[in-house]
Amino acid sequence: MNHNSVFLRKFLYDEGIDADLRRLIHTISVAGKYISALLQAANRKAAGTQNASAEDQLEADKQADIILRDMIVALDYVYDYASEEQAKPVRAQHKNPKFSVAVDPLDGSSLIDVNLAVGTIVGIYPAEELVDNGRQIVASLYILYGPLTTLVYTTGKGVHEFVLCPEGEFVLAQSNIQMKEAGKIYSPGGLRTDWTPAHRQFIDDLIATDYKLRYSGGLVPDFNQILMKGGGLFSYPGLKDTPEGKLRLLFELYPLAFLCEQAGGCATDGLQPTLDIPLKKLHQRAPIYIGSRHEVEKAKDYLR
Ligand code: F6P
Repeated sequence: MNHNSVFLRKFLYDEGIDADLRRLIHTISVAGKYISALLQAANRKAAGTQNASAEDQLEADKQADIILRDMIVALDYVYDYASEEQAKPVRAQHKNPKFSVAVDPLDGSSLIDVNLAVGTIVGIYPAEELVDNGRQIVASLYILYGPLTTLVYTTGKGVHEFVLCPEGEFVLAQSNIQMKEAGKIYSPGGLRTDWTPAHRQFIDDLIATDYKLRYSGGLVPDFNQILMKGGGLFSYPGLKDTPEGKLRLLFELYPLAFLCEQAGGCATDGLQPTLDIPLKKLHQRAPIYIGSRHEVEKAKDYLR
């Protein structure tokens, strides 16, 4: 941090956005600092419980969820707090609700024991129980817990990255991040033997045109790599036995798709833009192809 550092709260203020939205994003950034501290305390213990999708939870998954829930629900204009860790949203009983928040508190937490990066993903929506689709998203952000803790957000006015400095403030690293038309890396989720022939052919053709494999198994660091390198493709396709794929629309895909579009890239399930996919249930899944335009368009050609 130096005298030229731009703090997140100042940047949000200068963006001229709604004061409550500003306060909400700032509150989530503070929750992110606590989660970052939680992870640095070597928090690897299994909780012995499962989340709403029958995945084993770590103590850290539960604690991250509680930190976010308590800090977000305490804001007196929040309607629902929905979490990937919980079957149903928590309804805050406030009089004049303005926003609902959907959160994946600790995405990729199975990587904690091998000391790889993990992240928190947040989507901010109008005060409804279930939005119709992702176009209603108001803001999205992720916090990446790697060697550095970074926060990347958009309110529909570009994509900006902040770094948590040792003094405890998020300071601006880059504003208005933009992807190029095409990139050089690919990040392919799912077991190859479960891929459909069309998806397999598409990935083989990326390899044949010299795309480099970059896959950690953590959605936040894998997507962040594509964004920060200026392009490339992350995919988690529909699989032979699970055509809806693995990743959740509300908790993971809408927020990243919004960020990606804001950065000049795009995201699709192969047929329609991710943000246009109708949301029918809270934990709905969808295939995803997300990144720079060239690769996403190419994926659509193979999957058509
Ligand atoms: O949603 C959880 C998650 O760990 C994502 O972070 C990641 O992209 C994906 O699952 C990895 O899945 P797989 O291990 O099947 O490649």
